[in-house]
Parts: sequence; structure tokens; C-alpha cells
Amino acid sequence: MTGRSVLPEKGAPMDVSDRARKVVACRVCGGGDWQDVVSFGPVPLANGFLDPAGSYDDEPYYPLGVISCRSCRLMSVTRIVDPEVLYRTYPYVTSDSETITRHMRYVAETCVRRFAIGEDDLVVEIGSNTGTQLLAFREAGTRTLGVDPARNLAAVANGNGVPTLPEFFSAGVAETIREEHGPARLVLGRHVFAHIDDLAGVVDGVRGLLAPDGVFAIEVPYALELLERVAFDTIYHEHLSYFLVRTLGTLFERHGLRLFDVERLSVHGGSILAFVGHPQGPWQVRPAVAELSSLEERTGLFEDSAYRVFAKNVGHIREELPALIQRLVADGKRIAGYGASAKGNTILNVCGLGPEHLDYCSDTTDLKQDKVLPGTHVPVRTPEYARVHPPDYFLLLAWNYADEIIRKEASFLRAGGRFILPIPKPSIVSDGSA
Ligand code: TMP
Ligand code: ZN
Repeated sequence: MTGRSVLPEKGAPMDVSDRARKVVACRVCGGGDWQDVVSFGPVPLANGFLDPAGSYDDEPYYPLGVISCRSCRLMSVTRIVDPEVLYRTYPYVTSDSETITRHMRYVAETCVRRFAIGEDDLVVEIGSNTGTQLLAFREAGTRTLGVDPARNLAAVANGNGVPTLPEFFSAGVAETIREEHGPARLVLGRHVFAHIDDLAGVVDGVRGLLAPDGVFAIEVPYALELLERVAFDTIYHEHLSYFLVRTLGTLFERHGLRLFDVERLSVHGGSILAFVGHPQGPWQVRPAVAELSSLEERTGLFEDSAYRVFAKNVGHIREELPALIQRLVADGKRIAGYGASAKGNTILNVCGLGPEHLDYCSDTTDLKQDKVLPGTHVPVRTPEYARVHPPDYFLLLAWNYADEIIRKEASFLRAGGRFILPIPKPSIVSDGSA
């Protein structure tokens, strides 16, 4: 285990370990034989943006680490922070980037066409944020209902005409939806499934809500890619689970559903879109399920050694990235963060980077602007500010949009600006190399 604590030396952030429940039983298979993978010590919440203040003494720090279940190979965070703390007011607004807008249209079109979702059919989205994905379904004429516990975001969605319940999805909520709106032809969860502790309750709820020919489509970061890309920054308190295809298969089988297809996607650093239905339903199991499961086996992901290699690679980045940045700062270079992503906050906090390295962090999200980053307290600024105060280097904290951002920032690169890519190995992109 990499056990270096990241608690800052100065100031007195609060270690509130006692407010985060330790994971004991595996939320997929019920097992309890865990392999320790990485441990980052106490870390603040990745979306815990703060108002600028004279002192941040009350900022809560929770232990952050990952373990792997030796029976089903679920990777799980070590501690569960109360979802009421994490999600009731939430600063993450679904990206309106080109990449994600295109992707959301693809998800809607694929599901509507492939599962013949018609005008009267109901599409329910769990973790629907401000409703942009559901709007893409509405263009296809379907009935839609969003469910999202973030009251600030549900209010925006409702204001935009996308009916949204400000609730955590549960078996009880599923039953109410079925009573009021009838069964769902599609239940969608994009990048929400990894945030759910009570998987059993949610999957049972979805089973009860789905029509006999209904489909549960979930999109999650793919643990195989996380390990291969050393994307350790995907690890933060909100991401409770990191899934392999085989682990998902185990989960749904245990709850009377069947994983019948899976597609690999490039979004968010490599994700999978998994399709699940009733075992008696019309959907035949496609070869991709067995193919990916056997790829996972061949890659050694059911053995301890793969996770030891990952931990070693994480250790290398935690040394090389700060060393590179310290060298640049010592040379008088000015550096700023690009994209105040949640994972960026893992990178900064876990690598010990802060305001002594970054002048500011540029971000397009209104809710984050004029705040400071959790833990490091680097100020968040608008892209307009960044254009007026260009640094020599941008540390690309939103590396999952690298292609789009590097294209968009061609003039910054042409003027001699550079990007630092933190993973899989810290590297520099300049005009010549882009
Ligand atoms: P995400 O990876 O969780 O979607 O977060 C990406 C963050 O980066 C989000 O706060 C928006 C921000 N961002 C920018 O500031 N500029 C950009 O061009 C893009 C694509 C994202
Ligand atoms: Zn397990």
C-alpha cells in the first residue's frame, strides 16, 4: 500500500474518518476477502469546492483508498461518505462539451433504435443531473422522467421542462414511479452506478420498474481502462465501485436480471455501456459479454498481481508529476490547472500540488467559478480570465477531453503554451507534438 498521508502540514483540516463508514462486505457478492490496492490517507471531497476564506480549518478530510474483492473483483473505495453530504447540493453539471453532447445523442439514438422505444414509452434516468441526456430522448418523442438527489440540479431540470424527482433512486421510489407512470421501457444510469452503495436496493428497484421487454442501460468507467491508463484520479469518495464486465454480470445475476450486451466507449477515459434485461425478456446475450470477460481474464484482472502493478504505477506518477512541476516552477514557469474536474482534485491532493505550483484553475462551470479547489484552495477562474492571464503550462486536469481541449486551445499552443498530461505517465504536449 502507498500509505503517504496527504494532510497539509500547515492549517488544521478536520480528519472526520469517523463520519465515513468502513466497507466490510462486498456490495456485489457479499464477500469480505479484500486485497488492499492503494491508500491515499485523508483527502478532502473531490467536489467539495469552497468559498474563498481566511481559514479552511473546518474542511473535512476523509480516508481515501481502494480495495479489490478477491471473489468477484469489484474494486471498492474503502470508506463510504454519507450521500446526503455528497449530493444534496452538487456542483457537477453534466458537461456541455462537444464530446459529451455528441455522446449523449449517440446513447439516445442507439437505445431508441435498438430497443424500438416508441412515443408512449417511458424512459427513466437515474442521476439525471440538469436533464440534458433526457432532452436527447425527448427529441425522439419518448416520455421521460429524471431522478436526481441534487436539489439544485433537479430544480434546473424542472425549470427546463424535464420532469425530475429530487430523490435518491431506491426500490420505494421505483415503485412510486411505476404506480404513477407505468413500467419503464428504458432505465438509464450514466456515470451514477459507481456512486451507489446500496446496489442491491437499486437493482431490485429497477427490476420492479422495468417492463418485460425493458432495458436497464448503465454507463460506468471501465476498471480495465482505469488499471491500464493508471487513471488513479478517477478514485475519489463519490466513486464507490470500479467495475469489470464480469463483476457486473455477477451483480445482475444475483438480482434476477441478465447482462446481455456491453459496448466499450472512449468517454471519460474509457467507459462501458452495459445493457441488462429480464432473463425471460426478448434480448439475446451478445458475444461481447463473454469476449470482454475473457479479455479481463487474459489481462490478469482476477489475480492480485495486476492490482500490485497498478499501485506501483500510481506510485511512479505521484513521484514524477510533482518532480516535473517543481522543476518547471523552479525555472520560473507559470502553471495553471485546466478543468476543475473532481478527478483533478484527486491528482492535486494526492500528488501534493497546490497554490505554490498553480496560479489558478480554469473551468467553464458557473457553479465552480470564484470558488477555491478542495484541499489545495487554488482559485477557480473563468476561461476568459485564463485567456487574459495565459500560463506557460496548463496542467490538463480534465484529460478525458484532451483531444477536444487541445483542438480548442490551438492558439495557446501556437503562442508557445504547453499542456502537461498527468497520466498514464506525465508528459508535455507542445505545438510541435500536438
Ligand atoms: P468531468 O471530466 O467530470 O466532465 O469534468 C470536467 C471539468 O472540466 C468540468 O468542471 C468542466 C471543465 N471543462 C473546462 O473547463 N473546459 C473544457 O473545455 C471542458 C471540456 C471541461
Ligand atoms: Zn465481491
